[in-house]
Amino acid sequence: MDRNTTFPTVIAHRGASGSAPENSLSALSLAADQGAKAVEIDVNISSDGIAYVHHDERLERCTDGTGLLHETPSTQLDALHASAEFEGFENEPLPRLETVIQLVLQRGMALNLEIKPPRGRAHITTEAICSVLEDKWPASATLVLSSFDQDALKHAMQIAPALPRALLVGPIPTDWQAGMHAVGASNLHCSVKGFDAVQARVLQDAGHGVYCYTANNDDTAIGLLDAGADGVFTDWPGRLLAALEAQRRSRPHA
Ligand code: G3P
Ligand code: MG
Repeated sequence: MDRNTTFPTVIAHRGASGSAPENSLSALSLAADQGAKAVEIDVNISSDGIAYVHHDERLERCTDGTGLLHETPSTQLDALHASAEFEGFENEPLPRLETVIQLVLQRGMALNLEIKPPRGRAHITTEAICSVLEDKWPASATLVLSSFDQDALKHAMQIAPALPRALLVGPIPTDWQAGMHAVGASNLHCSVKGFDAVQARVLQDAGHGVYCYTANNDDTAIGLLDAGADGVFTDWPGRLLAALEAQRRSRPHA
């Protein structure tokens, strides 16, 4: 059975990261509280191969740790706080992927997991992540793996072909067919500025979903959806969902 790769139109980027520390358990819970049906997270691995949800290679911006996440053992990472300097979240842990999966499933959300391997670590990072997903993520729940690193996606295709993939790009490339084919991608995730309605339509006609990151301005996000994007990533899912609902009420027959 093919897995479902159709995402809701609003995807909480790093959770509800406008209102809580990005990629934290609080940001993911808050996204669900705000009505988001899908979240995006970034994942890297520790020096001993444990997958953590964290955007940067370095720990300084979002945690009270220092150095490179992939050079730090899980015993140290588990002791960190990841408040990203948000007030009121001082005890936020740096979450393991396993813990995040549990929460995302409990809250009934779809998951876009972005693989963030440091240079030269695409395979080892992808292997650790796929192993957790194969163990913990049910085939019936919606999941897409994405990455800017094509080696990571190609490796995922080889070792865990059943996990759906999305090619992550800036602008939609003119030769998108080659890129999508090389990694066996179902969906394409492009930047807001790189969205092109005509290209998107061609991709969609070929059976692919097209999603745009990161649309933190609601008018921009609504414009992208009106222009044909299948979905948008936002740090402010509750606000965008409310704006879409207001639009729906004002245009009931649109
Ligand atoms: O996955 C979409 C988006 O998250 C890619 O950029 O830097 O926010 O991970 P970044
Ligand atoms: Mg990301």
